[in-house]
Amino acid sequence: MTNDTSYKPIGIFDSGFGGLTVMKEIVKDLPQYDFIYLGDNARAPYGSRSFETVYEYTLECVKQLFDKGCHLVILACNTASAKALRTIQQNDLPLLAPHKRVLGVIRPTTELIGNYSKTKHVGVLGTAGTVSSGSYSVEIERFFPEIKVFQEACPMWVPLIENNEFDNPGADYFIKKNVDALMKQSADIDAIILGCTHYPLIIDKIKKNLPPHVQLLSQGTIVSHGLKDYLLRHAEIEKNCSKRGDVKFYTTDTPETFDKAATLFYGKEVKSQHLAL
Ligand code: DGL
Repeated sequence: MTNDTSYKPIGIFDSGFGGLTVMKEIVKDLPQYDFIYLGDNARAPYGSRSFETVYEYTLECVKQLFDKGCHLVILACNTASAKALRTIQQNDLPLLAPHKRVLGVIRPTTELIGNYSKTKHVGVLGTAGTVSSGSYSVEIERFFPEIKVFQEACPMWVPLIENNEFDNPGADYFIKKNVDALMKQSADIDAIILGCTHYPLIIDKIKKNLPPHVQLLSQGTIVSHGLKDYLLRHAEIEKNCSKRGDVKFYTTDTPETFDKAATLFYGKEVKSQHLAL
């Protein structure tokens, strides 16, 4: 719990490091606000965990961010957005904190996808959890019923990235395998959503396995523009976001280990603190 009631940072949550690729763009676009990043590294990856577990872990982390003064939390994790967001918004928030908000990364991405595909055949690459939840298909159908969605789960990608093994031939094998499997579902795919916030780190390797006309969408700028727009449209939430330009990082694991890898995702030096759950 914080004693400074005027400190109301925007919370950004991910299972581990991936959300830093989103936070990087958000802080660039909205530098005047205060931010707290929380990575649940001690329990990552979330991608292969059950609905119940992802929901339980995510809710626990959201409560921690609320305790630190956040009135607005972004789940910068597709797996948590797919498996926990709706229940938190519909069941937990009304009881826990009716004036606070939790937003995800799937909605802002699916709202825009229609602008990127001419063939109306769209691919989604994500964790096993995100793909099996069907969230992307459901959300895209809502905005663009004419679009056909093809998905491929890439269960090895997050472990390869988190273990800093993504720059070697072993990683190339798994990247090619999953990209080929997606394109085999439809040769007409002309836009692919990177439906996991870790994947921007391997975007060049993914591209190498695709025809040049296929567009790849990373979520960093999409989510940051979506947040900017959200804050303009929701003055009642915006007034509860303090503006001192302060940025803090927390991890549920060891800060030294977090800081080393985090720099790669955030593009700048990161100094984190431990958060005990
Ligand atoms: N970065 C998370 C996402 O966007 C997944 C990482 C994990 O499996 O924990 O889905």
